[in-house]
Amino acid sequence: MEQNRKIAILISGRGSNMQALMDAIESGELNAQIAVVISNRADAQGIQLAKSRGYTSVIMPSRGLSRQEHEKLLIAELKWHNPALICLAGYMRLLSPEFVQTFPQQILNIHPSLLPAFPGLDVQQQALDYGVKYSGCTVHFVDEGCDSGAIIAQSVVPIVDEDNAQTLASRILVEEHKLYAKAVQFILDRNWQIVGRRVIKN
Ligand code: GRF
Repeated sequence: MEQNRKIAILISGRGSNMQALMDAIESGELNAQIAVVISNRADAQGIQLAKSRGYTSVIMPSRGLSRQEHEKLLIAELKWHNPALICLAGYMRLLSPEFVQTFPQQILNIHPSLLPAFPGLDVQQQALDYGVKYSGCTVHFVDEGCDSGAIIAQSVVPIVDEDNAQTLASRILVEEHKLYAKAVQFILDRNWQIVGRRVIKN
């Protein structure tokens, strides 16, 4: 049987990482199919983009629903599409332990810092305030914590004296767009294992 190489992409905003995954698939660099793009926000720029490129897209508003109610709908939608991987790409909601346990080792996230440094929000400003000389981005499995799952891939971006949060964010974003497609390909190829916290090649 053909291996499942379908991915679902979850977004809340701009969707540039989603776009980078689409580009990588369309250029043949990433061997995957996008089953669905899901946004929790109707006004997410990325949803317009997904539609204009002909991808199946679904808006699943979270407003007015409890986390449990919202996630129940989200899980049903995802199961219907049966993706091998769920790629969070600027998805601004924390997922419950129940959600994470429904898709074990199937949820990936991209984060704009070198984890475990600077989890959470406003991380470029956090890196500048701390004074680190290098930041970057991390693709990791999503676990029950905040940006705490096993690390799949990282790229380093040097910080320069002239940087502010915006300039740093835009240089990191360039690396994010390259890294995410590579990490998704690596995980879909299934030639890896997790030893302790280490994601290593077989
Ligand atoms: C990216 O910096 C990503 O690392 C973080 O949120 C941002 C989303 O940007 N999780 P985009 O929506 O992919 O353009």
